[in-house]
Amino acid sequence: MYENPKLLLDPSKPIEPGQFTWRSPSNLAIVKYWGKYDVQLPKNPSLSLTLAASCTDTMLEFTQIENTSGQIQLDFFFHQEENEAFRARTLRFLEQLRPIFPFLQQLHLSIHSGNSFPHSAGIASSASSMSALALCLCSLEDALFGTLSDPKAFDQKASYLARLGSGSACRSIFSHAAIWGLTNAVPGSSDEYAVPFGDELHDQFKNFHDDILIVSSDEKAVSSSVGHALMDGNPFAEPRYAQARARLTTLIDAMKSGDLETFGKIAEDEALALHALMMCSNPSYMLMKPGTLAIIEKVRQYRADSGNPVYFSLDAGPNIHLLYPGDIIHEVRAFIDDQLLEHCENQYVQQDWVGEGPEEM
Ligand code: PMV
Repeated sequence: MYENPKLLLDPSKPIEPGQFTWRSPSNLAIVKYWGKYDVQLPKNPSLSLTLAASCTDTMLEFTQIENTSGQIQLDFFFHQEENEAFRARTLRFLEQLRPIFPFLQQLHLSIHSGNSFPHSAGIASSASSMSALALCLCSLEDALFGTLSDPKAFDQKASYLARLGSGSACRSIFSHAAIWGLTNAVPGSSDEYAVPFGDELHDQFKNFHDDILIVSSDEKAVSSSVGHALMDGNPFAEPRYAQARARLTTLIDAMKSGDLETFGKIAEDEALALHALMMCSNPSYMLMKPGTLAIIEKVRQYRADSGNPVYFSLDAGPNIHLLYPGDIIHEVRAFIDDQLLEHCENQYVQQDWVGEGPEEM
């Protein structure tokens, strides 16, 4: 939808070398995206909270070249060190973007990237890294051609590009919360990019915490892309997509009105539905660990005993996302220290919260 053969530099008007840096966060889906078609298009709409502390910083440097080979020229440094695996992955992504950004082959590109969280903690970085890169590319387009001066158009294109890199990354572009996928509940929603939901959120959710309890940092036995693909043969796939659509409508109302109980119920039901789908895939698999189940039981018990609105969510992995409003942070942190740390690898918790979205540095 963004293909534009006219976005080419005029070789007779050389441009100065330059750079852009974006810091972009991860996000946590409350209604999950699981199952896709074509190029990272979702089988059902999803809604996520935008995080604050789990971020990627990406700097994109560019210099004009006379490229006779037609190849895109790229160097990639991760935490100051050249990284061939990331370079190859990013190059494949940029090659895919050629019809959208034909000027990329007229530049030498250098990317310096780093995460705010430990690389080995088992926290997925594809949403933060792909959104940061997409934002840098939009800044580059706007600097060279002046075509993205409208902030709404800028964000929409960044979200579209991030989605091509890693589906759920498209939701990281927006502050506080975002919705991705076509739904009657949201005018202007699309499978191609996410739309902002932060402005409509009840204040309750703008001061929300998501402490990520690292149960295991081991590489997942089954990747998300394989997991999405297994949905195609899953006998529960169609009812699941209908369930997600229905839950999204309910969740939107709950998040607008500040209905914590409905929010928490959907968050937990969605986390368990995601993992149930994995267990019903062919071949079946399980990403939860004994520690994951132990924490889930303790969270439910703690909620029943204390009456505090503390809920869990899960991504496609064993780590628990503990969700709670900021006004009970001291009580919840004490609960984590007393009862949950013992289930965490190296007692590691990545403290996070709902944030303002990406920022240009
Ligand atoms: O964006 P992907 O392809 O890594 O898939 C992410 C899927 C979940 O994290 C499990 C759910 C979601 O909506 O983020």
